[in-house]
Amino acid sequence: MDNEYILEMKGITKQFSNVEVLHQVDFKIKKGEVHALMGENGAGKSTLIKILTGVYTKDAGQVFFNGEEIHPSSTLEAQQLGISPIYQEISLIPQLSVAENIFISREIKKKGFIDWKEIYKKAEEILKDLGINIDVRKPLRSYGTAIQQMVAIARSIMINSKMVIMDEATSSLDDDEVQILFNIIRKLKSQGISILFISHRLPEIFEISDSITILKDGSLVGEYPTSSLSRTELVSKMIGRNAEDVVNYKRTNRQIKDEYYLRAKSIKSGVKLRGINLDIRKGEVVGLAGLLGAGRTELARVLFGIDHKDSGSIEINGKEISFKLPREAIKYGIAFCSEDRKVEGIIPNMTVAENLCITNMKKVSYFGVINKRKCSSIAEEFVKKLRIKTPSIAQNIKNLSGGNQQKVILARWLSMEPDFIILDEPTRGIDVGAKKEIEDLIRQMSSQGISILLISSEFEELVRNCDRIVVLRDGMNAGILDGNDISEDKIMNLIANGNMAVGGN
Ligand SMILES: Nc1ncnc2c1ncn2[C@@H]1O[C@H](COP(=O)(O)OP(=O)(O)OP(=O)(O)O)[C@@H](O)[C@H]1O
Ligand SMILES: [Mg+2]
Repeated sequence: MDNEYILEMKGITKQFSNVEVLHQVDFKIKKGEVHALMGENGAGKSTLIKILTGVYTKDAGQVFFNGEEIHPSSTLEAQQLGISPIYQEISLIPQLSVAENIFISREIKKKGFIDWKEIYKKAEEILKDLGINIDVRKPLRSYGTAIQQMVAIARSIMINSKMVIMDEATSSLDDDEVQILFNIIRKLKSQGISILFISHRLPEIFEISDSITILKDGSLVGEYPTSSLSRTELVSKMIGRNAEDVVNYKRTNRQIKDEYYLRAKSIKSGVKLRGINLDIRKGEVVGLAGLLGAGRTELARVLFGIDHKDSGSIEINGKEISFKLPREAIKYGIAFCSEDRKVEGIIPNMTVAENLCITNMKKVSYFGVINKRKCSSIAEEFVKKLRIKTPSIAQNIKNLSGGNQQKVILARWLSMEPDFIILDEPTRGIDVGAKKEIEDLIRQMSSQGISILLISSEFEELVRNCDRIVVLRDGMNAGILDGNDISEDKIMNLIANGNMAVGGN
């Protein structure tokens, strides 16, 4: 076989309970290249990778790595061959320290005892090399998702790997952190290491990848040099329908009446929120922009009663309120689809329908007894609306692809028919086609008078959907954009420089 390739997968086929999810897929990666694997939610990307890394066994086909046929039967075996996966789901142990997580099962020993001093030193060095300065002795859970992701990467490149697999490794990172990760990728690449990169964010694909392989419904569409594809071409090959509409979706300036749903003034809480103002009108889509740590999620948590404010006031429909518990906020008609859907999200071993109806007790339960028929009809409706790919609503949620699980959680909150919904990174892990459907749904809800607070790290998503964008920085307002002032550049400028003179709230 040609030596130019580190990986060659041929004719890979895979079924789950008689449903074929991969059909004779050919997939190859050159040494030292960044190769993107693209496709809609449920196209088969993660399954292909799980076959490569020994998590699943293939039903047919061959895998050649570094010129030799391989049959890894576990992740460990794949790792020993030089294949290092970083999964969509972070698979670290939050209670252990950062250093322990990096060195798990590879502890450095001195005279039979674990050499902690050396472990801490090494861990610190590895992270510093990646541009991350944190206390490696602290438990991993004391850091945010982004840092945890970096630790996973540090762990994987510590091993002598020839190929690093990043299955949506950037989905929980903000712009700055993505750049840190990209620098790491470039460093790995210059050492001749290949990177298999999966992301639903198109700008990332065009920035970092050398070639792109596209899957659709478990079959290979084709392999292309990245420079040969335009955005529209890529999307149309992925989704096989109105790509123009998806790629060139434009926001429209709407007239929103000056009728306030929510007015939050000088909200302070701990060190994270240092006096934030936020107004949301009825039927308005307000975007919250800022880097991680700017206070976006923290503000959402205060509005929803998860955390409490130290000072400031919140008025809803002209009445001052203060929720002590999320339950009270839900009763008030507020929904919060949190960013941390892995933790607060799916309930494993329950069906799609059950996962979807869980917050919707008002509609589907009678004295705590769930009305299955009602739940089913809501589930069917949303499976259709969000095009959730599942054999049926009775499928166990953990058998859905990552993006489709995300859609179920989103549907859980949307189906509540709230007056106000906070969406924290609602399209994380969701493919471009489905993003458009979710965006349409956001628009539709807002035109029915529902107020929406949209938190997103993707400026493009904010620009496409918001009537107004509030930019936060270091727990304070950095500026507001509305109407024709809304653009990615202006958001970026406000995040970098701040400008209290813009807008004013
Ligand atoms: N363990 C399983 N049992 C049954 N079906 C499964 C299982 N794992 C995956 N599937 C199905 O295989 C198909 C491909 O899933 P996969 O996770 O590979 O998609 P993906 O391309 O990674 O999507 P996403 O972008 O949403 O992560 C989906 O329809 C999924 O429901
Ligand atoms: Mg996946």
